[in-house]
Amino acid sequence: MAQSLLQFHQWHISDSVTMSAYRDGIARSVRTGDVVLDLGAGTGILSLMACEAGARRVYAVEPAAIIALVPKIAADNGFGDRVICEKRESFDVELPEKADVMIASMLDAAGVFGTNMLRVVLDARRRLLKPGGVIVPQTVTTSFCPVDFGSWHEASIACWTEPRMGFDFRSVRSVAANQQGSRGVKKDNLLAQPQAFDPIELADATSTNMGRTLYFEIEREGTLHALAGWLDIIMAADVRCSSSPLVETPMSWSHLILPVDSPVHVRSGDRIEAAVRAWDDGRETVVVWDVWLRDALGNARAEFHHSSFYGLLLTKEDLRRLDVDSVRALSERGMAQCTALTLCDGNRSLEEIAAATLESHPGLFRNLADARDFVLGVLREPETAAEVRGRAPIGS
Ligand SMILES: C[S@@+](CC[C@H](N)C(=O)[O-])C[C@H]1O[C@@H](n2cnc3c(N)ncnc32)[C@H](O)[C@@H]1O
Repeated sequence: MAQSLLQFHQWHISDSVTMSAYRDGIARSVRTGDVVLDLGAGTGILSLMACEAGARRVYAVEPAAIIALVPKIAADNGFGDRVICEKRESFDVELPEKADVMIASMLDAAGVFGTNMLRVVLDARRRLLKPGGVIVPQTVTTSFCPVDFGSWHEASIACWTEPRMGFDFRSVRSVAANQQGSRGVKKDNLLAQPQAFDPIELADATSTNMGRTLYFEIEREGTLHALAGWLDIIMAADVRCSSSPLVETPMSWSHLILPVDSPVHVRSGDRIEAAVRAWDDGRETVVVWDVWLRDALGNARAEFHHSSFYGLLLTKEDLRRLDVDSVRALSERGMAQCTALTLCDGNRSLEEIAAATLESHPGLFRNLADARDFVLGVLREPETAAEVRGRAPIGS
């Protein structure tokens, strides 16, 4: 497990504002004897809270390596017999029983905006939650505000116009200006009153796409560098938390930064229209932000059109691969992968599969050890019977 993964989770569970809101929200939502699904369990802290609230059984679902720690943590807290771990993405999970309560914590800097969380929730709600089951959080709202944020713009975008070791890197600048940033903004950075999207009720949401045109009136002189986005969460009735820079005790999360390509001077009374959309094509979530600046009389002053698609760094080869009319043929490695997968018939050992793959593709491997590494790599993705058998001890 990468140290950064542990660091991320250490930071996440140390945010007492967010964690207290989860704890209160879970306490209000889980009844004694309930079955709870903890989607994106991480260290399992929300599973522990669910047990504390009286859950009979908690299914902790998490694809990342951190899940290996959860059985011990659950046992150390006296809940080892109630928490069942599933090391996989929610999309691949099937449960022996449907949950009364589903906890979904895959929130990002601007809530569900720009993430695949709605796709995760819609799928899990349909397959894994009882009809009428409760979801924590209940509601997530994304807000945006134009910000004067010169230090961030300089360090993240303008910096690419400077030569490095005498070499010209200016072409990178437009890519950087189409990428979403992440940084905490302060009240002093705000140029207008923030505007919110419609709240998303996770129990009722039907689309993974979201978007809204927001209208702002500039309240002070400054420079427009970006739109900053944040989230407000209702965990359960009366249990709220927010990462807004305007609240007294915000969650300790960074904000989403959607830059404008060229900083522009703004005056009190100027108007900003910002169309901000995110859609999820099943693989990537693409965020598009168009910004129009007008003076108080309505005269156009500047406009910016950005999309995270241009920040994805796709090569022509990547795009060609996505072309549905492209015709494919397997390379020698592809054929060896095919061989290895076909040999996974429930009878052969890993060593036998490696030996047979080596025999069929002698030009590809130096020796049996090479072939074994190759086969292990091939089998990392598809679910095999050995993995299925290996699942039980994780939660038991
Ligand atoms: C923000 S962390 C929350 C961790 C933990 N619940 C907490 O509150 O500390 C979100 C977790 O969701 C996991 N995740 C992302 N997509 C997922 C999916 N489709 N199914 C299950 N877990 C997912 C990530 O690996 C990550 O560990």
